[in-house]
Amino acid sequence: MRPRPALPVVRLAPAKLNLTLAVLGTRPDGYHELHSVMVPLALSDVLSVDLAAGGDDTLHVTGADAGPLASNLVLRAFAIARQTVAGNAPTPALAARLEKRIPVAAGLAGGSSDGAAALDAAFAAWGADTSPAERLAAAAALGSDVPFFLADGPALIEGRGERVTPLRGAAGPEPGVLLVTPRVVVSTPAVFVALDAGGEGAAPDPRSTRASSEHLAAELRTGLRSADLLARAGVLAVANDLAGAAAVVVPELRAFRRGLLRLLGRPVGISGSGPTLWALYPSQVEAAAAATRVEAALADRTLVAPGAGAPAVVATFILARPAPVTTGRPE
Ligand code: C5P
Repeated sequence: MRPRPALPVVRLAPAKLNLTLAVLGTRPDGYHELHSVMVPLALSDVLSVDLAAGGDDTLHVTGADAGPLASNLVLRAFAIARQTVAGNAPTPALAARLEKRIPVAAGLAGGSSDGAAALDAAFAAWGADTSPAERLAAAAALGSDVPFFLADGPALIEGRGERVTPLRGAAGPEPGVLLVTPRVVVSTPAVFVALDAGGEGAAPDPRSTRASSEHLAAELRTGLRSADLLARAGVLAVANDLAGAAAVVVPELRAFRRGLLRLLGRPVGISGSGPTLWALYPSQVEAAAAATRVEAALADRTLVAPGAGAPAVVATFILARPAPVTTGRPE
C-alpha cells in the first residue's frame, strides 16, 4: 500500500482533440480498429475526490452543461477501481465533486477524461498500489477513449483505443485551438453505424487518412516544431474518417463547417465523431481573437449554427507533455 495522500485528491481532466482519426476496419467484437493521433487540451474539468461520510459513492456536478448524472463515468470508474484493487487495500466509499468545463457529448472525450481522472484519484485516495497493466485494463473497461488519458500527453491510439503509444508532441510555443461545439446531439455508435453503411458522403478514402495519421505519428515521435504542426492543419482537418458519417447523422454540420471555414479563412476539422469543430492557431491569444469573431458572427447571424441554442465557443491550447520532475539532486 502507498501512503494515503492529503485529501481531497484533486485532478485536472483535460479534453482531447483527434488531430487524425483513421478507421482501419471493423473487429470481430463489433468495435472498429483505429489509428489516431490524439493530444490533450488545456481545457479541463476539475475532479476532487474525498472519503464519503456515508456508505455509498457520491457525485456532485457543477458547470454550465453537466449532462445527466446517470451517464457520468466518475461513479462507474469508482466501481471499476474497487474491482481492480480487489481486497488488496481498503476501498471506502468516495465523495466526488466535478466541475464541468468541457462541453458534454462533444467529441472532446470530457466524460472519458473524467473517468480516467476518477480511476487515478480513487487509487490515490485509497493508497492502493496498481500496476500499469491493471490501470490500462481498468481504463479500457471504462471506455475506448479512456486509455489515452493514461499517457498524460500526445499519443498514438490504436486497436479499439487500448493501445497507447506516447508521442513527443510539438516543440515550441503551444498551438492555440479554437473549438466550436454546436448544440446538436451526435451519437458515437450512430456515426460508426453510418460509416459501416457507407452511404453517400459517409465513406472516406480508406488509404489517405491512414497515411496522414501514420505520417503525423512518425513526425511527432521524432519531434515536430509547433509551426510545422500548424502548417499541416489543412491535411489534418480532412484526416478524420468519421467526418462524413457524422455529417450523415447531422446533415446541418456540413454547412456549418463550411460557414466556419469561410469566416475563419483556415482549415476546420472535426474532433472524434463530433460535433465539435476545430481550427489551429499559433497561440491561444490568436485562438481567442478568432473566438470573438465567431461569437460576433453568431450574434449578427452571418454565421448560423444548427441546434437549440448558441454553440459553445472556446479558445484553448494543446498541452505539451509535462516536463519530467527533477529532484534537484545530482545524478
Ligand atoms: O467504448 P465506448 O463505449 O466509449 O464506445 C462507444 C461506441 O463507439 C461503441 O459502442 C461503438 O459503437 C463505437 N466505437 C467503435 N470502435 C471504437 C470505439 C468506439 O465502434 N474503436
